[in-house]
Amino acid sequence: MSNDAVRWDEKYRHKAHPDVLEPDPLLVEYLDLFRPGQLVVDLASGSGRNALLLAGNGCQAIPLDCSLVALQKCSDHADNAGLTVYPVAADLTQFRFPPECLDGLVCFNYLNRALSDNICAALRPGGHLIMKTFNENFLAANPRFNPDYVLASGELTAMFDGLEIKFLEDNCQRVSVTKSAIVARKAFSA
Ligand SMILES: C[S@@+](CC[C@H](N)C(=O)[O-])C[C@H]1O[C@@H](n2cnc3c(N)ncnc32)[C@H](O)[C@@H]1O
Repeated sequence: MSNDAVRWDEKYRHKAHPDVLEPDPLLVEYLDLFRPGQLVVDLASGSGRNALLLAGNGCQAIPLDCSLVALQKCSDHADNAGLTVYPVAADLTQFRFPPECLDGLVCFNYLNRALSDNICAALRPGGHLIMKTFNENFLAANPRFNPDYVLASGELTAMFDGLEIKFLEDNCQRVSVTKSAIVARKAFSA
């Protein structure tokens, strides 16, 4: 078991990380990008608030996380709501997707720069990415947060420069904006 899995299992087991069920508003806004039947990964899903929204929309939603405790919570929430999810336990410091296997990938509040090329390659043509996570403004109010896990200005566009951008919130000069976000699509081949 990886160090991340041990650490995050502890947080979820002892409720040091909140078990929030409300999906991210950005996914609510762009939910219609993901059609019923499509295979969509919720990367670093935690207890799966966003995977549950996708499942409720008829997608084949795959909550993927290193924490078995979080994934069990996600399965329990899905059962309670009469939904089906397809949880995958994986350590994202090691895991890589096969090419063109996904119709969509969403990722909230998790940053792993080493995965960005693999995410682009894993999307099928026409597939969508939504990512939103902390940016450098977050550090001002949370100085103990690991600076390796915050986005600098311009990073999201550099990470996903192979994709067509539909929406970008990368306004690091507005200090009140503590997260950056991108909604993007993989182009169909020319
Ligand atoms: C801040 S939580 C975000 C959860 C969820 N995306 C959300 O927004 O509610 C970060 C998640 O990343 C997962 N995580 C951290 N390191 C990981 C790794 N190496 N492999 C897979 N998941 C990891 C944790 O287990 C945790 O669920």
